[in-house]
Amino acid sequence: MNMTARPVSFAAPAASSTVDYGFLRQLVYEQSQNVLDPSRDYLFETRLAKLLRNHGLSHLEELIQLLRLKRDPLLERSVAEAMTINETSFFRDARPFELLRTDLLPKLIENRRGVRSLRIWSAACSTGQEAYSTGMLLLEHFPQLASWNMRIEGTDISGEVVRRCQSGTYQRIEMNRGLPARHIVRFFDHHGEDWTVKPELRKLCNFRQANLCGIQPPFSPPMDRFDVIFLRNVMLYFSQETRKKLLTHIHRLLAPDGVLFLGSSEQPADATLWVPVLAGGTCYFRPRQAS
Ligand SMILES: C[S@@+](CC[C@H](N)C(=O)[O-])C[C@H]1O[C@@H](n2cnc3c(N)ncnc32)[C@H](O)[C@@H]1O
Repeated sequence: MNMTARPVSFAAPAASSTVDYGFLRQLVYEQSQNVLDPSRDYLFETRLAKLLRNHGLSHLEELIQLLRLKRDPLLERSVAEAMTINETSFFRDARPFELLRTDLLPKLIENRRGVRSLRIWSAACSTGQEAYSTGMLLLEHFPQLASWNMRIEGTDISGEVVRRCQSGTYQRIEMNRGLPARHIVRFFDHHGEDWTVKPELRKLCNFRQANLCGIQPPFSPPMDRFDVIFLRNVMLYFSQETRKKLLTHIHRLLAPDGVLFLGSSEQPADATLWVPVLAGGTCYFRPRQAS
């Protein structure tokens, strides 16, 4: 994935189209800071089809007319949410989870022996697989944490995916991607075509809708402090400026010995705040401390 800086530009619509895609891209940017490439304008048609139907509209032009009136903030948010890419899977990219198991969590647990508390954030959690994978890892390999104050927070801008996280219900195709059979047996109940996470795992995880780049970010220092933060596969949709701002905020939320995971091809926009560590075939980031 290309993480180089891209200027935010919302070019005029192609001459052959009557749909003002530039208007839609600008709206998505204002709502979610996601920068959509004009080469993917065709996605508006499919992604917004349900929203059009729900509002009794037949064409994108009609939706744009409605949006231009600026009377319905919820409609504006729904357009941005419908355009998000929610691709995820259990134990995605495996190596960060393996490194947590073998090295990072044992050290964090040792450091937190006094406070007996561990807090993990799956930022941009999509349908919850990242948060639940971390929960399964903790429950399977660190039973000594049962009496600790343990919490995994999952947040995402899309209300629809957050409702999926909260239901903890997955379809066969999702279960078949990255989930070992022993985890299915131990952590899921099977109902008809679906699998639902068992209460032991569900109660470790808390999910809510939140915009990482909004006026009110999901968490605020110094009240909130995390030991591990996953911020994977979301910054690639942001401008360089948005990435820089977000990572400055994340830096303040991470414990000095905490760990940040980005997507496998992502880098912090401002390298001065982060120390990259290569280990276990992956890369994670430590917050650089002011000297
Ligand atoms: C490709 S998924 C990544 C999911 C997971 N982190 C992973 O790596 O498997 C990106 C997620 O980021 C969310 N997202 C996009 N913009 C966001 C924003 N401004 N605030 C919070 N979440 C956002 C999308 O809704 C989507 O669910």
